[in-house]
Amino acid sequence: MAPSRNPEDTLNPTDLSEADARARLEQIAALMAEADVAYHQKDDPKISDAQYDALKAENLALEAAFPQLIRDDSPSKSVGAAPASGFARITHAVPMLSLANAFNREDVQGFLDTIMRFLGTDAVPAIVAEPKIDGLSLSITYISGKLSFAATRGDGQTGEDVTANVRTIKDIPNQIDNAPLTMEIRGEVFMTHENFEKLNASQAAKDAKTFANPRNGAAGSLRQLDPSITAQRPLSFFAYAWGDLSEPLADTQSGAIARMSEMGFKTNPLTKLCQSVDEILDHYDAIATARPDLGYDIDGVVYKVNDLGLQRRLGFRSSTPRWAIAHKFAAETAITELIDIEIQVGRTGAISPVARLKPVTVGGVVVSNATLHNQDYIEGRDSKGAQIRGGRDIRIGDWVTVYRAGDVIPKVADVHLDRRPKSAKPFVFPTLCPECGSEVVREAGDSVARCSGGVICPAQQVEKLKHFVARQAFDIEGLGAKQIEAFYTDGWVKEPADIFTLEARFGAGQIKQLQNKDGWGERSATNLFAAINEKRNIELNRLIFALGIRHVGETSAMMLARQYSTWDAFQSAMINATEKTGEDWDQLLGIDGVGEVMAHALIDTFHETDVRDAIARLIAHLDVIPVEAPRTEGSKVAGKTVVFTGTLEKMTRAEAKATAEAQGAKVSGSVSAKTDILVAGPGAGSKLKKAEALKVEVMDEDAWLALIS
Ligand code: IVH
Repeated sequence: MAPSRNPEDTLNPTDLSEADARARLEQIAALMAEADVAYHQKDDPKISDAQYDALKAENLALEAAFPQLIRDDSPSKSVGAAPASGFARITHAVPMLSLANAFNREDVQGFLDTIMRFLGTDAVPAIVAEPKIDGLSLSITYISGKLSFAATRGDGQTGEDVTANVRTIKDIPNQIDNAPLTMEIRGEVFMTHENFEKLNASQAAKDAKTFANPRNGAAGSLRQLDPSITAQRPLSFFAYAWGDLSEPLADTQSGAIARMSEMGFKTNPLTKLCQSVDEILDHYDAIATARPDLGYDIDGVVYKVNDLGLQRRLGFRSSTPRWAIAHKFAAETAITELIDIEIQVGRTGAISPVARLKPVTVGGVVVSNATLHNQDYIEGRDSKGAQIRGGRDIRIGDWVTVYRAGDVIPKVADVHLDRRPKSAKPFVFPTLCPECGSEVVREAGDSVARCSGGVICPAQQVEKLKHFVARQAFDIEGLGAKQIEAFYTDGWVKEPADIFTLEARFGAGQIKQLQNKDGWGERSATNLFAAINEKRNIELNRLIFALGIRHVGETSAMMLARQYSTWDAFQSAMINATEKTGEDWDQLLGIDGVGEVMAHALIDTFHETDVRDAIARLIAHLDVIPVEAPRTEGSKVAGKTVVFTGTLEKMTRAEAKATAEAQGAKVSGSVSAKTDILVAGPGAGSKLKKAEALKVEVMDEDAWLALIS
């Protein structure tokens, strides 16, 4: 008799007939859907994580073996429950990252220099240069050559499932012969100028919403819940990258582009393999010259190291590759009148002058505010005292040139002295905070003046609270900047902890006090409390970011969370750390992207009694979800602390550190009892002695390379 088996036990796809495979796929879809509901909605898992993962893998293997049987509701197409927006979510097998920017020729030279330094070579690597398409990035996965699912970039980790819509795009093949078993192609969805004009004309004729630019037109058309609407919208696509692959497409970037083109994808005809910095910059000029006649929007040129072996060695920083950069075109500009200069006080007390402008269109967007950076910028100097704009100052009443930097935040670039009104007087920067009256101080070497009021400054408090609820932080639905201001003014929320006691203090009944002025009712209050309660479980990285510590952005918060994993470990390290010495300090500085300035700010925060107490009051309401180090399956060094010393002969220090971290190891600068491995090259001295005394495992560079290969 055959041994009895559970449905959760996986089967080997090659043992199954087509009919059995169909039945099994149906069974897996049902099991996983049930598991999703139990886990996500009822918080009551019915099967183990390992069983769930095994089912997911079996499903993928079956779909690869029987692509004709892929179900519309296949678990491979969605992860978790469908979000409110109406699209299911797809977790990217390989994160979709963004590119660092270069704005001028020096930045491009800097990009190449950094690569050469990292690789320890004097030779400029061959570079592929191609237009940066101004659309939205898309990932399309083919299993056994069949278009199986497609997703938007989303937050880079998880995107929206737009498979049905993507099947209607003519530039994207639905079926490919001779493709790797699993093949994820990435590229840009965009709309040509001609199609954009047509779309807007037909929208206008129907009295429907028109789009501000082709990019919005493409995004609005791709993100349609009804694929038959997408089918009527003429979208285009260029393939330029890839994600998950069961076998490589080629061993160079240019080879991979050629392969994608052979498989039926459109690739950009202005893609060129360049051998020197001059050739790269000439191609940039050629693309810039061609730009007005391309018939679609581009916003720069992307440079990528051609050799994929070198790309692998160069790897990634926290959110961008080292092997590529986007050389952006100069932003569009416009001239307008400066009506006033207002002073804003930020969450860290930074005093920022903001230009109020006579509204003007810059690159298709109406701009009425722009940053003026700081006092020096208004006066015509940079942070080192050098003249900017030839030392011309900016005054209220002036005519100024504005541009959208990185096409997002408008900035004031220049002033037109020939149009300056006679009455215009030099701007006097405030010496007292306009919000709390505290003195404005500027520390030596700091380009920013700050309000010294700290917790007594209401502007700083409100800005801190707004930051706390921001999208990348606690992201509480129904509690945005506007509500925070109202709650603060009413004295209901003075610090983050107060958000979590709102319901206990007021309840749905009393919150109606607000009803008259802010539209709060019983139902919206109940929804708000539910949204707040949902965020009592918060990921460590979001929490660290939400604290609004100076210099700690979203990426650094993630790096810190990965290093310490739990709130308790993070907090005790910050409390125990002492400046410039000791293991906790070394560990902190060993984190990618953490320098002395950020380390100082972190430690300071946890050594200030008031701040520490406020954090403790907040934590009392939270369950902090630990963050796991990045997936490092098969790595023998994940979680180990490694120190490199002596001369490395096969790679530079930077490469050694980056590859160790990519495998989940922590790299430290000093040997201690916590060190697991010392990699010692020729000339190793005191660190080697210390490691031997502490009985730390010592190996040479070759042994290390073998260990991580
Ligand atoms: S390569 C690891 N090539 O630019 C990143 N991106 O700022 C690989 N983009 O999100 C991206 N044209 O949407 C690459 N020729 C091109 C591109 C391109 C446009 C977009 C893409 C990406 C963004 C990065």
